Amino acid sequence: MKRLPLIVGNWKMHKTREESGLFVKRLLPLIASSQRRVFLVPPFTAIETVVKACAGTNILVGAQNMHEAESGAFTGEVSSKMLKEVGARFVLIGHSERRQLFFETDLSIHRKVKAALKEGLIPIVCVGESWEQRENGKVYEVLFSQLDQALQGLSKDDLKSVMIAYEPVWAIGTGKHATVDIAQEVHRKCREWIEKMWGTDVSQEVYILYGGSVKPENISELMQGTDIDGALVGGAALDPEMFAKLINF
Ligand code: PGA
Repeated sequence: MKRLPLIVGNWKMHKTREESGLFVKRLLPLIASSQRRVFLVPPFTAIETVVKACAGTNILVGAQNMHEAESGAFTGEVSSKMLKEVGARFVLIGHSERRQLFFETDLSIHRKVKAALKEGLIPIVCVGESWEQRENGKVYEVLFSQLDQALQGLSKDDLKSVMIAYEPVWAIGTGKHATVDIAQEVHRKCREWIEKMWGTDVSQEVYILYGGSVKPENISELMQGTDIDGALVGGAALDPEMFAKLINF
């Protein structure tokens, strides 16, 4: 299966429902002739609005997080079933902001991946090293450990429904993106790691996205990496004109 370029816009805690609807209205005509895959990740409250606004297009809508349990006394949390009900098709899991600011552990990330798969949501598992870890030569130790703990015990079929996002912590929101050489090397090694664990048929299907200060000015360069299948974009995904430029790179 060919991996068509996929551009994912993660809005983080931005946009009301009204702003979300307006964004989609402005975006659609700008990407009408695009062959690219597009995912949008609004805050929970705007998911349904964006799903409706994207009806009849190929854009998939997803969530930024979920809880691992099906239901229960977990004040403030949302389950995979609730996300599915409002039209979400995928969910970001283990974004570095969740790991750092909300103390998400590898164990809960693993449980979330399993719960998402059970509900038929595509988990986009986010991994990435800090600058300090990179300077200390720990990049692959960190990444393979995050991947191993998130994905342990998954079947081949499960893995074919998983996407991975390599987001170096030092590149997120800093304006300092990884060069294509750095990102491509990491993506290639991650794909080789998947191949070793699940075989070539799986490793060739799994999407590995790059995230961290992706902008219209650097996306073409990044997408030259043969193992870079798309981008997970934060800041530059908030404006429809800029996001359309990323899609039409
Ligand atoms: P950024 O965020 O594009 O603003 O660096 C990326 C992300 O957090 O997914």
